[in-house]
Amino acid sequence: MLHVIIGAYERTLLTYGAYDRFLEGDDSAINEKAKRGMTIFLTKGCKGCHTGMSVGGQSLQKFPLRADARIYDFRPNLEINPDLKITDKKFPFENIGGFLGKGGNQIFRVPILRNITKTAPYFHNGAIKDIEDAVEIMGRHQLGINFTKEEIEEIVEFLKTLEGELVEYKIVD
Ligand code: HEC
Repeated sequence: MLHVIIGAYERTLLTYGAYDRFLEGDDSAINEKAKRGMTIFLTKGCKGCHTGMSVGGQSLQKFPLRADARIYDFRPNLEINPDLKITDKKFPFENIGGFLGKGGNQIFRVPILRNITKTAPYFHNGAIKDIEDAVEIMGRHQLGINFTKEEIEEIVEFLKTLEGELVEYKIVD
């Protein structure tokens, strides 16, 4: 029960940034590259899981979703960390800590992507340090899409628009 309450509270903690200004109608709040990334995010399936104003945090989902992608690790975009080591077939990264998600079934909460570019390292065990690699893994394992380097950069540019100004809390006595 407690995790439900904390989850509900956390979803109210949204920072305000370029993405919000864009949604409010300021077309110049985000650049053209970010707009291309947003189009990919909205049309290729990312938003199916990372949804709502929090851009995530709403559901539990299987990861990796595509078993075949788990086994066959074709990495056509080899400019991106070619030496990323896959030491456990369960994840496309090292299985540090051995946590296998809810019930041991590789079910994880879909993370909120607000401020995601500021909160490396990524995934439940922090095994991935670059946001580009996290996006590449998501495309391949959750959507079955091998994004090009350019598409990954566009998605990352969009994710940057989810950065927000931090809220200042004042203690009132
Ligand atoms: C089927 C559901 C699903 C889809 C589709 C999906 N994701 Fe995810 N995403 C997840 C889950 C679940 C995790 C957490 C996995 C973990 O912690 O090991 C995650 C993690 C992430 C992370 C790391 C977040 C963190 O805090 O560490 C990023 C970045 C991300 N996704 C971006 C994307 C992008 C970009 C797309 C589209 C290319 C996408 N996701 C598509 C379910 C999904």
